[in-house]
Amino acid sequence: MIGLGEGENFLGSDVAAFVEHTRNALAIGQDEIVAITPEGVEVTDFSGAPVEVEPFEVTWDASAAEKGGWSSFMAKEVSEEPEAVANTLRGRIHEGQVEIPELDGMDEFLADIDRILVIACGTAAYAGMVGKYALETWTRVPVDVELAHEFRYRDPVLSARTLVVSISQSGETMDTLMAVKYARSRGAKTLSICNTQGATIPRESDAIVYTHAGPEVAVASTKAFVAQITALYLLALHVGRVRGAIDPVVAVEAVTELEAVPGKIARVLETEQSRIEQLAHWMADTRSVLFLGRNVGYPIALEGALKLKELAYIHAEGFAAGELKHGPIALIEPGQPVFVVVPSPRGSGEMHKKVVSNIEEIRARGARVIAIAEEGDVAVLPAADEVLRIPLAAPLFEPLLAVVPLHIFAMGLAEAKGLDVDQPRNLAKSVTVE
Ligand code: M6R
Repeated sequence: MIGLGEGENFLGSDVAAFVEHTRNALAIGQDEIVAITPEGVEVTDFSGAPVEVEPFEVTWDASAAEKGGWSSFMAKEVSEEPEAVANTLRGRIHEGQVEIPELDGMDEFLADIDRILVIACGTAAYAGMVGKYALETWTRVPVDVELAHEFRYRDPVLSARTLVVSISQSGETMDTLMAVKYARSRGAKTLSICNTQGATIPRESDAIVYTHAGPEVAVASTKAFVAQITALYLLALHVGRVRGAIDPVVAVEAVTELEAVPGKIARVLETEQSRIEQLAHWMADTRSVLFLGRNVGYPIALEGALKLKELAYIHAEGFAAGELKHGPIALIEPGQPVFVVVPSPRGSGEMHKKVVSNIEEIRARGARVIAIAEEGDVAVLPAADEVLRIPLAAPLFEPLLAVVPLHIFAMGLAEAKGLDVDQPRNLAKSVTVE
């Protein structure tokens, strides 16, 4: 990406790198050469012939890429999680129905798809894993989620009826970009869920659904994660409607739930943040933390573990709670901290009972259990050492709330260890190498 300033020009992996200096940008394609000086920018191909590139204006507000009084970009970005969801919903709900204007003209194709493949890396892949539950529930199309770097190096079965959905905050992750190109070359249609305007992955895709989380500067992805899940839910509701696969009453209920998410995230931040930070402070010497979740809570457990690894350099693992008895329970020894994402006891409550019984099993072996459970769930009280509360939500929407305490915890623990939460060691914000 090139940023066009006055008497100064910029070169960055994405527009977030220079948006505080200029909002005029040029997107450079593959196999192009840029000569950049303070006075000008010249783009040519490999034979030296000039390439015409249309500048575009970045819609992000320059102040959005500033710390603005927060101790870190990450702290600011976690505080913006409610807005990230609200802005991603904006303009895509009409009279209780989801209609994504960017997908106009695709109805015929979407009505005919027989498979959805989601490709992404890291946190974006966990958003994809959450999205799979909603996509399958509301569209009745089988969904697979795959790490982009693994997908490319096998011989996947793709057809013109496969929709490949890539997810990337930066839109520049090389593994994801190469996977998108590969899927396209094999005849699939590609749709990019991306947070960065004009980035390479959306430009290389057949369709784009932008998340509107605003610039994410901290290396750890937080507000983009909740925005990605929101975009996937919108996509699922849109495709479900186009295919006639979702009951209109269920669709309206889902929209009501989605619209309530920003307020509920704000409540988690308001009521739980300082308690979680205190907990993180007490746990500053912890050397290993485990995370358990089931169903939509499972990718949240993986996300909690990834955040702790990347920010606090602590050994952390996420497991599906049902998998405990197949091996991981051997890791439990007295004092081992375990975060458990507890599903709601409402509805059939079947999964809730199973997860509470998992908690009892690990507690009996000495684990220190920190449960993330909905308000009013008293069944977790006797079994857990700490309970972090999230507001009531339908099961599919719980991940958007349960992840917030985990983001705060990882940030708090890294801060308690005196680490730089915005720029963890060995990592880059945009991973532009394979
Ligand atoms: O820009 P992307 O969403 O494509 O990035 C993908 C991953 O590199 C990214 O989510 C990474 O895992 C984060 N640092 C995790 O917090």
